[in-house]
Amino acid sequence: MDYTLEHLFGIRDEVFVVSGGTGTIGLELCRGMIALGAKVGILGISQEDCDRAAAKLQAEFPGAPVLAAVADVTDEAMVNEAVDRIYARFGRIDGLINCAGINVIDSLAHITIEDFNRVMNVNFTGTVICCKSVGRYLLRARKGRVVNISSLSATQAKAYYTAYASSKAAINSFTRALAIEWAQKGINVNALCPSLIVTDINRAQLEQNPENFARRVASIPRGVPGRTEWLVGPVVSLLSPGSVHLTGQAIYVDGGSSAGSTFVLEEERFRHEDA
Ligand SMILES: NC(=O)c1ccc[n+]([C@@H]2O[C@H](COP(=O)([O-])OP(=O)(O)OC[C@H]3O[C@@H](n4cnc5c(N)ncnc54)[C@H](O)[C@@H]3O)[C@@H](O)[C@H]2O)c1
Repeated sequence: MDYTLEHLFGIRDEVFVVSGGTGTIGLELCRGMIALGAKVGILGISQEDCDRAAAKLQAEFPGAPVLAAVADVTDEAMVNEAVDRIYARFGRIDGLINCAGINVIDSLAHITIEDFNRVMNVNFTGTVICCKSVGRYLLRARKGRVVNISSLSATQAKAYYTAYASSKAAINSFTRALAIEWAQKGINVNALCPSLIVTDINRAQLEQNPENFARRVASIPRGVPGRTEWLVGPVVSLLSPGSVHLTGQAIYVDGGSSAGSTFVLEEERFRHEDA
């Protein structure tokens, strides 16, 4: 076995479609992949978002191999057209990162079914549509990697997150079923579950509730919120050749939150050790 970094983790010249690559986490994942020599095809909700994301990447990585195409992930025809454009541009597709997502935080008593369905449609059905669309190319190549960006909310729920938590749990279950369906077709499918990261999806709410934000951070074993950069290593690892036998999993990148709570019964006794 030739244990070089390139053999284990190399993604140079590979082409990855990133839905929601226009967003905070998606764009950072694009940066990481481009820095490692990969090419990216972004699916964004509007031309303006696509232009902004492509311009940022071009400014940071002049001449970067990027195509940002407009596609609402809930619209199968639009997604197919955008994915076909990405394939036509780069001549191959090696994987998909599903990163488009929204949240509507509301009580079940108050949320409209339209809003509930919108969250399910973007987060869950959007993931399904993108897998189906990019899958046309991965199945033909009998090789590919899919990473579905899920959430700690898939398994650790919060009040007023019924729509979001349901959509992310559905992603994890879909990930397992699809991983098995595609296991002998050379395609690995995994979910990555981050916890709190300050991004466009939650910035306004966090800024408006600083004390509760601080309490939430204190509940994270590592004691800090996540950072978009800290998702790049785990995602690249899932995309890379060394992870050939790793499929159907949900990987939690959450500072230890899913492992347990920060509660200590005998706080006084251990205070000096924890200082
Ligand atoms: N920020 C967090 O704390 C956190 C934690 C766990 C999981 N996540 C997940 O990470 C992913 C990225 O979120 P983010 O935090 O970067 O938020 P973000 O709002 O910055 O990015 C989300 C992106 O998805 C795009 N999008 C929304 N609806 C779309 C649609 N119908 N079609 C195409 N694109 C669409 C948005 O335009 C945006 O660019 C989401 O799936 C989110 O649920 C975020």
